Amino acid sequence: MTRSRIAAPDELVVIVDFGAQYSQLITRRVRECRVYSEMVSHDTSLEEILAKKPRGIILSGGPSSVYDEGAPRVDPGIFELGIPILGICYGMQLMGYQLDGKILPGENKEYGKTELHVLEPGTLFEGLNPELICWMSHGDLVQEAPPGFEVLARTHATPVAAMANVERRQFGVQFHPEVAHTPWGIEILRNFLYRECGCEGSWTMESFVGQATNWVRDRVGKGRVLCALSGGVDSSTTAALVHEAIGEQITCVFVNHGLLRAEEPERVRATFEQNFRMNLVYVDAQERFLNRLEGVTDPERKRKIIGEEFVRVFEEESSKLGHFDFLAQGTLYPDVIESGTKSAALIKTHHNVGGLPENMKFELLEPLRDLFKDEVRGVATELGMPSELVWRQPFPGPGLAIRIIGEVTRERLEMLRRADWVVVDEVKRAGLSRELFHAFAVLLPIRSTGVMGDQRTYAYPICIRAVTSDDVMTADWARLPYQVLERISSRITNEVPGVNRVVLDISSKPPATIEWE
Ligand code: XMP
Repeated sequence: MTRSRIAAPDELVVIVDFGAQYSQLITRRVRECRVYSEMVSHDTSLEEILAKKPRGIILSGGPSSVYDEGAPRVDPGIFELGIPILGICYGMQLMGYQLDGKILPGENKEYGKTELHVLEPGTLFEGLNPELICWMSHGDLVQEAPPGFEVLARTHATPVAAMANVERRQFGVQFHPEVAHTPWGIEILRNFLYRECGCEGSWTMESFVGQATNWVRDRVGKGRVLCALSGGVDSSTTAALVHEAIGEQITCVFVNHGLLRAEEPERVRATFEQNFRMNLVYVDAQERFLNRLEGVTDPERKRKIIGEEFVRVFEEESSKLGHFDFLAQGTLYPDVIESGTKSAALIKTHHNVGGLPENMKFELLEPLRDLFKDEVRGVATELGMPSELVWRQPFPGPGLAIRIIGEVTRERLEMLRRADWVVVDEVKRAGLSRELFHAFAVLLPIRSTGVMGDQRTYAYPICIRAVTSDDVMTADWARLPYQVLERISSRITNEVPGVNRVVLDISSKPPATIEWE
């Protein structure tokens, strides 16, 4: 399977990942500052990092202590490159350690919102108040800054909460500027990027569209592209982008795998026909997917089966439609990261990444592979796609299969479809669709006793899952108004046979994930 990448923009910052939960967030925040950033594992060689021609390097946080056996380090040569460096949390401690400062192993852990006193603003704190609130989450701390560094800020527990070697353009912050709990943190990143790295903020979705269409054109040449269209913003944007680049050489295939929401197949076809002038082939593959899922309860097996079956369907369609060279799909950066990188643990096999069989007959074309969701929405807007599509809530490739816990049966699918319809409908009526990242129903494979009319029932519960999120990597459970919850609950128990109870999921991500499987 070949995966090639769109050339990175000229202005690039490398995030060296030490396994922190927040590394992807740093990457995203830097992009919010209109500077393209890429995350690499801490054991990436200096040559590889240099080959990216970074304007700056950010060393992320991480769960280790510099004193742990086998704690991740960086090649000390990184500090001699003359490229500006910002160490965050563990990144700062490592910098202190490798540059001969003094690191105190963590007895005085500092966690949560903390007052920060700025002693010397330097460029990093330029334009900010001298007294600030920041988010701390660390065990070890830098007790003495390395030679050549001055202390920029402290907290009551941390004598060196920020430090700088102005001459060498090396900086460290013990707090987390990337999280929302450090409200002005983005300013720190912006100061580093603009004042120290010399970035100008050239990363825009307009520039991406230009670059991506050129890349698609070069890569595909006269080849033919089959595009897996789900009707969601990612695959529709992929299709629109590829179409913009190569016109008639693209054919979209929309597979109904029987795991779609109510009325979805009809809606996708209608939207597509109204808004795009591309070839669209509709494949009804409901039976084969549902047959293959029979008896399967393990979530990872479900994902693998669905991913594999998808590709087989495409291969068959491809041979019916003539030869295709590429399979275009709307894989995004978080999908890639969450399917496991060297430093990030495998959370779930997203069906469009890890679930693909090794012996595929297509080359993959994934022009959105380096983008976050909000960036894709920017691309979609740039391409003139209708706002209803741009702002559509995401729907996972494996569909309702990962919202039915345990075995997927036709009966359960029907129940979930009806319940999901109610959730989506009520959220829409309440005008909340856009502010919620997701609102859907989950069917739990247990039954409980209820009473309806004068009869005892023994039926399934439906769980309401609604979250807000602006980066997918983290999410908060949505505080839906009681009236909305009440309507959803009463409608589901009335309208969905087989369901007698409605519960609400009040877990954030982490520690939960958005989907239940
Ligand atoms: P989780 O459950 O990992 O979900 O917090 C994060 C986002 O990813 C979507 N998701 C998927 N999308 N294929 C997809 O295309 C998948 O296999 C998949 N699994 C989860 C999920 O709906 C949410 O938006």
